[in-house]
Amino acid sequence: MDDGFKNQVLERTDIVDLVRSFGVQVRKSGQNYTCLCPFHKEKSPSFSLNPGKGFFHCFGCQASGTQIDFVMRHENMDFLGALHFLARRAGISIPERHNSPQEAAAAQAARSEKQKILELLEDACRFFEGQLRRPEHAGALAYASSRGLDDDALKKFRVGWAPDGFDNILRWADALKHPRELLVKAGLLKLNEKNSVYDLFRARLMFPIWDDEGRVVAFSGRIIIEDKNVGKYINSPESPVFTKSLLLYGFNLARKNMQGEQGALICEGQMDVIACHRAGLSHAVAPLGTALTEEHVRKLRRAAKAATLCFDADPAGLRAAKRSLGLLLAAGLPARVITIPAGKDPDEIIRKQGPEALREAIKNSRDCLDFLAEQLRKEHGDSTTGRAAAGSEAMELLSSIPDPILLSSMLQDIAERLHLDPRALQDGLRNRHAQQRSRERRQQQQAAPAEPSPTLGETQATAPLPSPLAPVQEATPDAESNVELILLQIAVANEDLAHELAEALPAGGLSSNPSGAALNFVLSLVHAGDWAAAAQAALARFKQSPSVMKALAMPEYSASSTPEILRKAASDCLAKRLSLTRDRRARDIMNALKAPGADARTLLAELQQLKAMK
Ligand code: CTP
Ligand code: MN
Repeated sequence: MDDGFKNQVLERTDIVDLVRSFGVQVRKSGQNYTCLCPFHKEKSPSFSLNPGKGFFHCFGCQASGTQIDFVMRHENMDFLGALHFLARRAGISIPERHNSPQEAAAAQAARSEKQKILELLEDACRFFEGQLRRPEHAGALAYASSRGLDDDALKKFRVGWAPDGFDNILRWADALKHPRELLVKAGLLKLNEKNSVYDLFRARLMFPIWDDEGRVVAFSGRIIIEDKNVGKYINSPESPVFTKSLLLYGFNLARKNMQGEQGALICEGQMDVIACHRAGLSHAVAPLGTALTEEHVRKLRRAAKAATLCFDADPAGLRAAKRSLGLLLAAGLPARVITIPAGKDPDEIIRKQGPEALREAIKNSRDCLDFLAEQLRKEHGDSTTGRAAAGSEAMELLSSIPDPILLSSMLQDIAERLHLDPRALQDGLRNRHAQQRSRERRQQQQAAPAEPSPTLGETQATAPLPSPLAPVQEATPDAESNVELILLQIAVANEDLAHELAEALPAGGLSSNPSGAALNFVLSLVHAGDWAAAAQAALARFKQSPSVMKALAMPEYSASSTPEILRKAASDCLAKRLSLTRDRRARDIMNALKAPGADARTLLAELQQLKAMK
């Protein structure tokens, strides 16, 4: 950490101003300033501020520190978060490390583009807010109020209206001279095939999406008249300022309310978050149209010590809850679960039964193991094999718990709930860890530079004489991996094709290389309805494998390839896979033919057939 930067931030931050900016009443008393301590309950002020030294101290609870400590504690931020918060507040730019002047220039350009996008989105948010108040859009306002959004809520959550039509945003932007390219980058306008632009959000109630500091970085728009032909919600596409897998709706508001035992309340949608905050449950957040990701959980872990998951009790909701629990536990966050009767959500409960009903549900939330055991029993059944499968899935879900003692006691606990022998789960886990370690070793070896390939002369000298039965080319193991890596790129680039691939490729038929494992992983997320999170999740999970990382991070095929190109590549790959499988079978046959007592006639007939299919 650059101390110069830190000192500059501290010098430019008046501690009295800072504390006042959080709504604390501060009075002068002699050299110092005093107030009621914001960190503990008290009736007479024992919190003292020293502006000269930039220091606070509470004689009641002994809290003390600098401006940075104050923000860390008050806003529940980590050190860097608080430092950057104060730097921005003081208008000091945050230093970055760059290796070359070109890199520095590129970073500067990216920063100013980001800045421009943020300003544009803030303007757009005001435009939408204004539209919602116009008399001709009274229907939109009526819908908002039917959803329990009163004036306070509309203001607090800055709800707006994107008028019907293809060029309202466009004309607004043109009038204000916002460049159209910037609107496309910010996700407000879309390009059609003829390269002309149109509004992405039409006739939708607009919810701005904030980043951790409360800046508008995207929108989520909801239709107000049910229509099966369009998505209920449209969210802004990802942009230089918006990454779905990182963003939790409401986090900027909720972060400081996540301390203590209650931790974070994780809901499914933004209407739930709004309803919860209005009901005083101001520790609620929700991912935006994706499943919870590892990045989300990392963010939560920095702010909270526990989490409660609030999920719809339909099968998809229950599966999502199970997966999310695994992530929370792996991050060391104790988790509880509320399942809400199918089809209902916190928003609806609060609206129909009042906030008390949801509070009650939170009070009655279940411990994660209780939920997991029941869910696994339901999914796998009570037969011996079913219980074994439940046990191995439980082991899988719990295996990443960082604290070994907790892990062991949780394994014991879940084994008892599933009527399994706890030792079997412990042993299974040890095996798994051993396998993982050897897999990692293999991947490291793969990552090492390849041996130089033999020259032609050497190959000829050592190669066996061609057998009369050698119709089949030796398929290098790489051919199969390469095909899988391309399929992986296609699966994360295009949702429709991903579903087709998930149908076309049976899980058991993929290679045991990292490429096959990654493809299998992505397709199973697709199968579970979680395409949007698949790429990020695979990146996180296969970071040990250079080939998978390269395919995902620097893909040949991506969302910017046309669907036609992707489709063609997918069908080429499927054809290639088929031919590789045939080659492999042919090799197996040839080996079988060498074995004593082989049924040569049948084997040769099959070989002929395979050749005919080429
Ligand atoms: N979502 C989405 N696209 C859809 C449907 C949902 O992006 N077509 C996202 C939204 O962020 C939404 C969340 O998934 O908030 C949860 O979806 P759902 O439970 O269907 O919506 P609700 O939040 O219950 O919305 P509402 O109450 O307005 O119907
Ligand atoms: Mn709802």
